[in-house]
Amino acid sequence: MNAVVDHDSTVAGIAGPVLGEADFQFLRTFVYEQCGIALSEQKRQLVQGRLARRLRALGMKNFTDYCNLLRQDPAGEMGELASAISTNVTAFFREMHHFDALINELLPRWLEQKRREGDRLRIWSAGCSSGEEPYSIAMVLAEALERCGRKVDAKILATDLSPAALAAARKGVYSLERLEGVSDERRRRWFLRGEGEFDGLACVHPKLRELISIAPLNLLHEWPMQGPFDAIFCRNVVIYFDQPTKRTLFHRYAGLLPAGGHLFLGHSESMHGLSDEFELIGRTVYRKKAA
Ligand SMILES: C[S@@+](CC[C@H](N)C(=O)[O-])C[C@H]1O[C@@H](n2cnc3c(N)ncnc32)[C@H](O)[C@@H]1O
Repeated sequence: MNAVVDHDSTVAGIAGPVLGEADFQFLRTFVYEQCGIALSEQKRQLVQGRLARRLRALGMKNFTDYCNLLRQDPAGEMGELASAISTNVTAFFREMHHFDALINELLPRWLEQKRREGDRLRIWSAGCSSGEEPYSIAMVLAEALERCGRKVDAKILATDLSPAALAAARKGVYSLERLEGVSDERRRRWFLRGEGEFDGLACVHPKLRELISIAPLNLLHEWPMQGPFDAIFCRNVVIYFDQPTKRTLFHRYAGLLPAGGHLFLGHSESMHGLSDEFELIGRTVYRKKAA
């Protein structure tokens, strides 16, 4: 009897439930179809380890029960599953060169262009994790709006599929260590000292919150918004996706950007060979070509 690979139960001598073959194959298909994450055959131990805590939180003793939960309530559990097997690692002003481009070039240009009634400036942080990315964008946007001196309808949409990440983004409360990438001037300007339950923590300024709408969204599902966006940040997200999923996603992004609209990817991500609708114009910065 091959208990370790064929049965999904706690096996004597092994701590925690064991992820059996049938459940692993179900999870692979589910994760690929629902979240776009392609798990190789070699990832079984990793998935088992990452999901063990989720099983404990749910009071479940084996993976078969967990797979049944996914069958019964795919939408309800998908975010937690995706958070468990992927990473939410993020930081304020991560990949600073993207923010330099916003500050020095893009925001001044967009604000100069948006002078008519009804003109809107829209930026989407797709895969926003716990909010550091959209709040970083909000800081430079708020500063640019101030320099511009005119009222412009400007907003940031921040989406993710992880409920825990979205809850943290909505809360907007960070430890001082998390503020490492934020200059002293910006800390003074855009963060408030936490009080009571947030004592010793930093809370984002309400003026930044006003610029951001936070919403759950699985990038593989239908999108309720129609754009257009001036820029889309999708950084360190497609790293988990296989090539066909990336190709489809980039094409959908192109549909929400005007010619000249910008798409920012993460430092180890590329559109190479996956889209001819964009041109590379900087370090992982892409611009949509004219049709
Ligand atoms: C590593 S974090 C990147 C956060 C931020 N963009 C950055 O670069 O710092 C990746 C985020 O993508 C989210 N994500 C992964 N797959 C997703 C999907 N199919 N739909 C929406 N968000 C997804 C994860 O939940 C996670 O919060």
